[in-house]
Amino acid sequence: MYYICSVVEPIVVMERTVSLKGSCEIYVGSTETILPRVLPRRRVVVITDANIDRLYPDLVRRFDYVVIGHGESSKTLVTVQKVYRRFMELGVDRSTFVLGIGGGIVTDVAGFVASTYMRGLDFGFISTTLLGQVDASVGGKNGVNLNDYKNMIGTFTQPCFVISDVGMLRTLPLRELRAGMAEVIKTAVIGDRELFEYLETHSAETFFDNPETMCNVVWSCVSIKAGIVERDEREADTRRLLNLGHTMAHAIEKCAHEINHGEAVAMGIAMICDAAVKGGMLAAPDRDRIHALLEKTGFTLTAPVPTARLLREIAKDKKRSGGIINAVFPTGIGSCRVVGLTLDEFSALMG
Ligand code: GLY
Repeated sequence: MYYICSVVEPIVVMERTVSLKGSCEIYVGSTETILPRVLPRRRVVVITDANIDRLYPDLVRRFDYVVIGHGESSKTLVTVQKVYRRFMELGVDRSTFVLGIGGGIVTDVAGFVASTYMRGLDFGFISTTLLGQVDASVGGKNGVNLNDYKNMIGTFTQPCFVISDVGMLRTLPLRELRAGMAEVIKTAVIGDRELFEYLETHSAETFFDNPETMCNVVWSCVSIKAGIVERDEREADTRRLLNLGHTMAHAIEKCAHEINHGEAVAMGIAMICDAAVKGGMLAAPDRDRIHALLEKTGFTLTAPVPTARLLREIAKDKKRSGGIINAVFPTGIGSCRVVGLTLDEFSALMG
């Protein structure tokens, strides 16, 4: 089901900008007004997926373009190689600018291709999904999965710009829009009590309907994420906060392929809140508020897989990383802390 089908005209919203690492400008606004100003005056090649090509052909086909497959199963080195080969056929060289147009999968792949082809080309993104706008496209992480392991191969390279076009959210299926809300709620729990309270008092539909409000929500998340990445681009400490709910979420996604990333993150946040209460880090009423907001947004909080199986998946993962899990625990609404735990300690809290 599409929230509003085939409304693709640009919308008029107040544009907002934030600079990241002195080299990446993040815009929340409309592509049609921002892109002509920010695109360099040189050859541009687009990487996108078939949905975006179908919905926005006038945007995609004004450049040479490469279409990649849809969904997490396309986030592989096989896709990357196909794009490299297509780049060679198109005669892409170091002076070419790569423009990724799409959600998190497209921007992760486009950023990785651009930052490695011929040792690196300049690139930018038009982020078209809520999940991409509030998380995946911001912060310079690019990469692909390897076998079952998420984001195993990649780079930290900042795009020159990210345009988060909230008008494009109008063509997003409702399930995808909700999936993005999991990352919005995550961001609010990490560091924005005011945003959390706003989400508590407004139904998701209220702001899905209103571009100006959507802009504010996206903007709040982008500002918080940019602030965190500014302090810790390579995830040595503070950036780990952005992984709230993600340890369990990645295990859920591996075991239950029908669950999308946002849905798994919502379950992961719910579970880690329970663990935080059990470990004496979070007051039960705050846990209840976080659970209630996730449920109000339409998420199921219980994973469709027993916790013991999820912990076995996490154990497999941890063998590769020295056995320590940097678990993120909420300590209140708008504050979290990272605790390094052994698998046994983590399992005791989660079980
Ligand atoms: N999505 C987590 C991060 O960008 O660090």
